[in-house]
Amino acid sequence: MTTHLDTYKALPAAQQPEWPDAGARDEAIESLEKLPPLVFAGEADVLRERLAQAASGHAFVLHGGDCAEIFAEVSADRIRNKLRTILQMAVVLTYGASQPVVKMGRIAGQYAKPRSSNTETRDGVTLPAYRGDAINAFPFTAEARKPDPWRMVEAYHRSSATLNLARAFTTGGFADLRFVAEWNRGFVANPAFARYEEIAAEVDRAISFMAACGADFDALKAVEFFAGHEALLLDYERALTRIDSRTGAAYDCSAHFLWIGDRTRDPEAAHVELLSKVRNPIGVKLGPAAQPGDVLRLLDRLDPEAQPGRLTLITRMGAGHVRTLLPPLVRAVQGAGRTPVWMCDPMHGNTIAFGGYKTRRFDDIMAEVKGFFEVHRDAGTIPGGLHIELTGDDVTEVLGGSETIDEEGLARRYETLVDPRLNHQQSLEMAFQVAEMIRGHRG
Ligand code: TRP
Ligand code: MN
Repeated sequence: MTTHLDTYKALPAAQQPEWPDAGARDEAIESLEKLPPLVFAGEADVLRERLAQAASGHAFVLHGGDCAEIFAEVSADRIRNKLRTILQMAVVLTYGASQPVVKMGRIAGQYAKPRSSNTETRDGVTLPAYRGDAINAFPFTAEARKPDPWRMVEAYHRSSATLNLARAFTTGGFADLRFVAEWNRGFVANPAFARYEEIAAEVDRAISFMAACGADFDALKAVEFFAGHEALLLDYERALTRIDSRTGAAYDCSAHFLWIGDRTRDPEAAHVELLSKVRNPIGVKLGPAAQPGDVLRLLDRLDPEAQPGRLTLITRMGAGHVRTLLPPLVRAVQGAGRTPVWMCDPMHGNTIAFGGYKTRRFDDIMAEVKGFFEVHRDAGTIPGGLHIELTGDDVTEVLGGSETIDEEGLARRYETLVDPRLNHQQSLEMAFQVAEMIRGHRG
């Protein structure tokens, strides 16, 4: 049945796979459509309210996780480590901002990737590019690279298992504030991170103070945790878009939060059209090419009613450009009287090739965050959150940090199939530094 949710099908759609077998595609989509939603519409509404708080300066958003999830890494250890890292960062940021931190993973659905070319050539052999585990597999063989629509169904099941464990961890005792503060104590015990000891000690004292006062409410034991991924693969997102029986409104129930990438944000094309029809909170990535006019058009297309919390603008300009490219966008949005959530993605504008690896420098990442805060301070707008690529494991993919990773270090444990991620310790370092910046921003 074709409904108003299918209008996007008549528009150009960038970055979609060519499924080789249309019959298999239809069958896979049909089975996805029969599966239950992964999130509930009411949860997406709650997130929208939380994001509205961030837009008005009453909360700060932390959105972190892998560049690309992969099926083989859906394991208890990996998921636990990732959540632990996000929670540890969140405590530090909550303290630094003296504000609630909205905790969100780039998780449970981050299985489709935009690519600069449809094909990849190695030693004279050309095959389809790897587009993420929801579409094809990474090994460079014709078999692995052939798009297989049943992988969308597999992505659904892996997302379901991931989300189930994340919900258990965040509500079942693992996220207890007292444990999380203790993990951070372990982090600053390492001499490399001694400069963060002061903040860690302050957090500790605040928690001991609350405990001494007898504060033992449920809010200390559990956290609200949301899932978000890039809404890239339209067949998957459409199949999980459902009508809420209570309100009759459409929600993309593959995640609480969906964002549109910098390469697929054409206001007149398919991705914007589909997401304009769902009520979830939506993000849009804005890279160096984004013009004020583009952003205003996106506000009209995605948030015509200026609903608080509906739209998040995620800027990714690069450390060297954020101070010149971000102000015109901020001024245009401000001039239109709009208050989206402004989030900083300090990862994607700072990717470099180094020693044969695709990497990023920790210092560049931090410099973009700093520039982001300064631009918003000058404009009088709100720096609302951070969007980062991280893993909870001790990989060596990003250069720098206090336990310096250098060119040789990269080779030690470079695992990512797509973009380089902050490791556990680099992520915590970032949280401590950003906590200091937020304080400076207020002061
Ligand atoms: N529930 C509160 C919150 O989410 C406090 C809290 C409990 C917390 N465990 C946490 C905060 C872990 C950060 C990390 O803010
Ligand atoms: Mn990435």
